Amino acid sequence: MIRSVKGTHDILPDESHRWHKIESVLHSFMQQYGYNEIRTPAFEKTELFARGIGTETDIVTKEMYSWIDQGGEKLTLKPELTAPVVRAYIQHNLASNSAVNRLYYLDALFRRERPQKGRTRQFHQFGAEVFGSEHPEADVEIITLVYNFYKSLGFKKITLRLNSVGSVECREKYRKELYSFLKPFLTDLSETSKLRFQKNPLRILDTKIENEKEIIKNAPKINNFFTKDDVSHFESVKSILRELEIPFTIDPQMVRGLDYYSRTTFEITSKELGAQDALCGGGRYDNLVEMLGGKPTPAVGFAAGMERLLIALKTKLSKSTPEPVQIYIVGLIPSAQAQVQKIASELRVNGWSVITDLLRRSLKAALRDANRKNAKISIIIGEEELAKNGILVKIMKSGEQTKILRKNFINHLTSLDL
Ligand code: HAM
Repeated sequence: MIRSVKGTHDILPDESHRWHKIESVLHSFMQQYGYNEIRTPAFEKTELFARGIGTETDIVTKEMYSWIDQGGEKLTLKPELTAPVVRAYIQHNLASNSAVNRLYYLDALFRRERPQKGRTRQFHQFGAEVFGSEHPEADVEIITLVYNFYKSLGFKKITLRLNSVGSVECREKYRKELYSFLKPFLTDLSETSKLRFQKNPLRILDTKIENEKEIIKNAPKINNFFTKDDVSHFESVKSILRELEIPFTIDPQMVRGLDYYSRTTFEITSKELGAQDALCGGGRYDNLVEMLGGKPTPAVGFAAGMERLLIALKTKLSKSTPEPVQIYIVGLIPSAQAQVQKIASELRVNGWSVITDLLRRSLKAALRDANRKNAKISIIIGEEELAKNGILVKIMKSGEQTKILRKNFINHLTSLDL
């Protein structure tokens, strides 16, 4: 037997209706905030992610599903969506339609991580990106959107962790300083960190190794290198959040796994999750559009894990079942099957949900199946009905049966009080 690949999951019918619920809340939520959906291809050129996310990040060095296709192109299944959305924004010149572009997405992503609760190799994210505004109110709009989304789903114990990683100017100064600080410890560092030391020492702050964490405790802090504008930007973000009564904690140690951030970064965590407690993450990335070949364009966004949301919601949502079909149709003789299909089509066009018996069951077995499916009405077509151009309508709850003419059946069903 061939089983699914490690770290991937099937979403079976008794689970998929929970996805539908979240998806429908999400689409109307995004519409309320004026965001339009963007869908990008499942794979992109590898270079987009290497350049966009950063060559020394865990995602790019260890986690991407990449291959060379038959035409010799280096391709990668998308591990995140910000870089593809930026690519599409530049390629289709979306800036020409509007000075500010608000986009959102819901998609499947791929990272070859070590699977555990809340961490899989194929997972889904919803998220939003706003292009065109450098102002703190854009950061706050993004944070508020996702924070209020969780609140609307009934989350009470979520924590918004906020940080600023400064502008490019500040990060350049900080990088030099960090380099000088780390140099004497070089021999104590792991092979990965030695490589990062050469290419991007800021990435070492993301280490999971204990002795490196100890070293980093005494490293210079980025906030000491903020420019005046960095400080006032961060202060404004905080003060608008306070005005909106959105609680937050400042977390100067928060390191995001992607290199493109500048200024505001944030995560929302939930105690209802295990070790992988980040429901979502995001921040400002004012240089990415230019880095990927577009005109300099400030931008900010977030992405949130769908599976993590559903894990955390499991404790909140009572188990709900999918909507049952309304009508079950059974043909008791083979020559009735064409009529069964015709009536089903007509009913569906009129807005009813319908299933038909596909196993040519006996009347008793078919009605048992209709009950199992929670159908409200069964329609039966036997020899007599076929000969008289009629149908037999059975209300499942009361057991009441009515013979009606084929031509009147839509009116009859519509008049029923179910
Ligand atoms: P990220 O922090 O890598 O950010 O991912 C965002 C969220 O996706 C995480 O907080 C988590 O909920 C979920 N997630 C990530 N990896 C996995 C996994 N292996 N299994 C299950 N869920 C996972 C980004 O992807 C950025 N593109 C966010 C962003 C948008 N920044 C600006 N705009």
